[in-house]
Amino acid sequence: MKLLEGKVAIVTGAARGIGEAIALKLAEHGANVAFTYVSDSSAEKANTLQQKIEALGVKAKAYKSNAADFAASEAFVSDVAKEFGTIDVCVNNAGISKDNLLLRLSPDQWDDVINVNLKSVYNMTKQVIRPMMKAKKGSIINMSSIIGIRGNAGQSSYAASKAGIIGFTKSIAHELGSRNIRCNAIAPGFIETDMTHYLKDGDASKAFLEKIPLGRFGKAEEVADTTLFLASDLSSYITGQVISACGGLNI
Ligand code: NAI
Repeated sequence: MKLLEGKVAIVTGAARGIGEAIALKLAEHGANVAFTYVSDSSAEKANTLQQKIEALGVKAKAYKSNAADFAASEAFVSDVAKEFGTIDVCVNNAGISKDNLLLRLSPDQWDDVINVNLKSVYNMTKQVIRPMMKAKKGSIINMSSIIGIRGNAGQSSYAASKAGIIGFTKSIAHELGSRNIRCNAIAPGFIETDMTHYLKDGDASKAFLEKIPLGRFGKAEEVADTTLFLASDLSSYITGQVISACGGLNI
């Protein structure tokens, strides 16, 4: 039997990158997957992903939904519960970065990053715990970042949002552990995706690689493997934790 046979999983921001790898990984292990994308330009990619997941023999559906919007998240989760029957796993993956030194960081840039990265986790978690409480089980996985643990120059808004996710994750683990709902965070290091493509070139890349004991950037699939572990019963006694998938990076 597959690790997630018959389970229903939500993944936010899954049209590309880490979210896409997670949606595919959970489906490969038997989960039915509902996932979101946010912009019209991602609709084609989302459709392709839906087809790829369906080809694995499970149910899949792409929803256009902005995770930073409370009402949209409420409608999305309600639609998924109706369409899929229940929600066992929620992966809050959607995220953005708008890096700037604090001297130049505008209030709009700050708000955008906090709303998409942190408020989205509140928006989604608040909705998915209802069906999970009813089912007396659930696993919520929030995508933090090594930057949320260590901080980084030029990334104060991103670091604040990702550190906020860790505090939120630990609090929800306390609140809902008695209901058999687990809540954990993953802190990826530098993973090769569109978000980090600018790091791959030239001297910057070399400097980053020197700080990574494993000597390479990570792959989206490696974060997906960590997500699979936290989504499945292999981690049934793990809650309120942050697992770093970072190649040992210490900045
Ligand atoms: P990406 O930029 O390739 O993908 C992010 C996805 O989120 C995109 O599909 C985007 O459309 C979606 N998204 C953005 N705003 C959204 C919204 N309001 N509602 C719904 N979806 C939205 O980035 P990547 O690298 O795949 O990152 C995924 C997550 O992992 C993010 O939370 C990111 O902060 C986190 N992360 C990534 C690292 C990396 O090195 N790539 C390192 C640490 C954390």
